[in-house]
Amino acid sequence: MQFTRGGRRLSAVVEWWFVECKNNFQGNLTKPFSPRAYSTIKIINDMRLNNVQNLLIKPYEQQLVCKRKAFCATAKSHRLLEKSEYTGWQEIRNKRTITEYNLRKGKQFHTKGIQNSNQENFNKAKMDPKLAPTVKLNSGYEMPVLGLGTYQSKGEEAEMAVKHAIDVGYRHIDTAYFYENEAEVGKAIKEKICAGVVKREDIFLVTKLWNIHHEPQRVKGAFLKQLETIGLDYIDLYLMHLPVGYKYVDEETLLPRDQDDKLQLTDVDYLDTYKAMEELVKSGLVRSIGVSNFNSEQLQRILDNCCIKPVTNQVECSPALNQRKLTTFCKERDIILTAYSPLGRPNLTAKTPEFYFSPKTQSLANKYQKTPAQIILRYLVDIGTVPIPKSANQKRIEENLNIFDFKLTANDIEIMDSFNTGDRLVPFNLIKAQNHKYFPFHIEF
Ligand SMILES: NC(=O)c1ccc[n+]([C@@H]2O[C@H](COP(=O)([O-])OP(=O)(O)OC[C@H]3O[C@@H](n4cnc5c(N)ncnc54)[C@H](OP(=O)(O)O)[C@@H]3O)[C@@H](O)[C@H]2O)c1
Repeated sequence: MQFTRGGRRLSAVVEWWFVECKNNFQGNLTKPFSPRAYSTIKIINDMRLNNVQNLLIKPYEQQLVCKRKAFCATAKSHRLLEKSEYTGWQEIRNKRTITEYNLRKGKQFHTKGIQNSNQENFNKAKMDPKLAPTVKLNSGYEMPVLGLGTYQSKGEEAEMAVKHAIDVGYRHIDTAYFYENEAEVGKAIKEKICAGVVKREDIFLVTKLWNIHHEPQRVKGAFLKQLETIGLDYIDLYLMHLPVGYKYVDEETLLPRDQDDKLQLTDVDYLDTYKAMEELVKSGLVRSIGVSNFNSEQLQRILDNCCIKPVTNQVECSPALNQRKLTTFCKERDIILTAYSPLGRPNLTAKTPEFYFSPKTQSLANKYQKTPAQIILRYLVDIGTVPIPKSANQKRIEENLNIFDFKLTANDIEIMDSFNTGDRLVPFNLIKAQNHKYFPFHIEF
């Protein structure tokens, strides 16, 4: 994203301003901005109708309209508005109190626990869901060990699914630029915050950098656009969707093809992309970063060269592809393996995947008074992964979360292990066919 004013490129200034904010919050919260910072804020404040306005100020106006009082904001947004002459600020500020500034490792800053002044209303609106346990990431943040997948949930269906999921206790939501539902996912989360069901910091929101944005100079702009679409002021976890880049044509061409219908790939080094993602953590707009569809060698290369460790590798993982070796590899390096397509996308007509329809799974389901899906998800949690089943059906959304009142025995786990064939549901054949140097699945794990 380019910030311009009177033909002058301002992205560098705004970038610098983020750093200035960070410095301001280290050690002394009351330290005033330097004259340079203050003049930058004034410039930003003057730019009422441009990108900065939309990115930083508009979300506050939307929240005001919302009338409800559960708010979250990053420290920098507070300072910006406080120091600017933005008239809505006082109104916002009167409605809530900042209870805690969470300064992490001297690198990141976040506002935690901005609470509704009317605690009574907040408690009334709040439901009493059974939450999933959390796992501590190497960044220090907690991630719920079960999340809601949203691939192929579109439009109102995605919004409904996320809202219902939050109502019944999901706190971890997985989306991506590629899924084209970030706006609906963000809208659902914001509505649940406004309704007082959750606070921003209760939600662990994951989204991903799409393959057309791998050039390092595109990463920040792509991320800011996603953040704007989602409409929140930070993302909990930002993943590189794949180690292979696709040619950038425009923002809408997600799968660029040539005249022969061949997918157009690039040679951008995923390490360079990752380094650009590290800058997002430093800016405070992303709390943790990670990767997806990386093999162990690619992950090791990141670890050998990074400043900020990936917290997770999100890969396909189900009883048919249980990723035991990759999970151990990750665990030894303090990285969590997130399991996508954990249910193997059950197909009632074709009766696939086998592990879902097998009498062995059904008998475990009978033993625990659970469903096959619940046995599969519990198995994935018990072997140390974090499954993110997708559902847009209210009953199944609830069913998939209801797995934390039982545990499989070692013998049960052995039974589920027996389904491991290593077959992939998502083999990325279009990349494999081109023998791309960063194709991840040509080695065992
Ligand atoms: N990083 C990546 O490259 C990548 C790739 C693929 C997926 N993902 C992520 O992982 C998430 C999950 O993977 P997925 O969507 O591929 O597959 P999945 O979660 O294994 O399966 C989803 C399918 O299972 C159905 N389903 C859900 N719960 C069920 C239950 N209890 N019983 C029977 N059927 C059930 C859903 O239908 P209903 O909606 O009708 O319930 C949907 O058709 C995605 O949504 C996405 O967020 C990431």
